[in-house]
Amino acid sequence: MKIVLIGANGTIGREVQRKLREAGHEVVPVGRSSGELRVNLEDRASVAALFRDLGAFDAVAVAGGEVAFKPLASLTTEDLVFSFRSKGIGQIHVVQEALPYIRDGGSFTLISGVTGREPIRDGAAAAAVSRAVEGFAMAAASELPRGLRVNVISPTVLAESMPAYGAYFAGHEPVSGEKVANAYLKAIEGRMNGDTIAVGA
Ligand SMILES: NC(=O)c1ccc[n+]([C@@H]2O[C@H](COP(=O)([O-])OP(=O)(O)OC[C@H]3O[C@@H](n4cnc5c(N)ncnc54)[C@H](OP(=O)(O)O)[C@@H]3O)[C@@H](O)[C@H]2O)c1
Repeated sequence: MKIVLIGANGTIGREVQRKLREAGHEVVPVGRSSGELRVNLEDRASVAALFRDLGAFDAVAVAGGEVAFKPLASLTTEDLVFSFRSKGIGQIHVVQEALPYIRDGGSFTLISGVTGREPIRDGAAAAAVSRAVEGFAMAAASELPRGLRVNVISPTVLAESMPAYGAYFAGHEPVSGEKVANAYLKAIEGRMNGDTIAVGA
């Protein structure tokens, strides 16, 4: 399959790229600030332009989008708008804008995170956005035409990210990037639709 991967050069994206290529897929890597193909999830016109210029493809996977990690009392409106616009609405726009171009039977694989399943310190905005993405997929699945599917990967913290995020995840058992990448492969090659695939506790 030809798979468009947004956030391809990030911690998760690199693992997903490797896994999909190992499985024999053609990966089209897309970055925000690096690589030949670029997109800004915060800008719908940029998302639309990406798919308009790409030609046909079989799947889109997202491993990017940002949220603000801050104590509840100091989360500003701007923090919340930023979080929803980047990781929330950004991923919804990916599905909407790719829809005219994706081949029949194709799939969308989005990203949420353990923040939507367990309370993490400073994670209220992340939790709200994760659940929003999962809710979107659950409902949008029933509207997708042509045998298309949409699913969400919800990993706990990656072992590779512990140096950066470890302080927020005391007592959590990290998962390997390999395991998270397998979940993407499962969502792309499997038949699930509207599901959230939890990876790790
Ligand atoms: N790492 C974890 O432990 C973990 C666990 C659960 C969930 N997640 C979620 O998984 C996603 C990826 O995490 P990660 O750790 O792989 O992050 P990362 O290493 O920071 O990589 C994120 C990638 O997404 C791209 N990106 C970020 N904002 C973007 C935007 N507005 N438009 C287009 N591309 C954008 C970045 O591009 P540039 O490098 O060009 O900026 C980067 O390639 C995030 O949503 C995160 O919340 C991560």
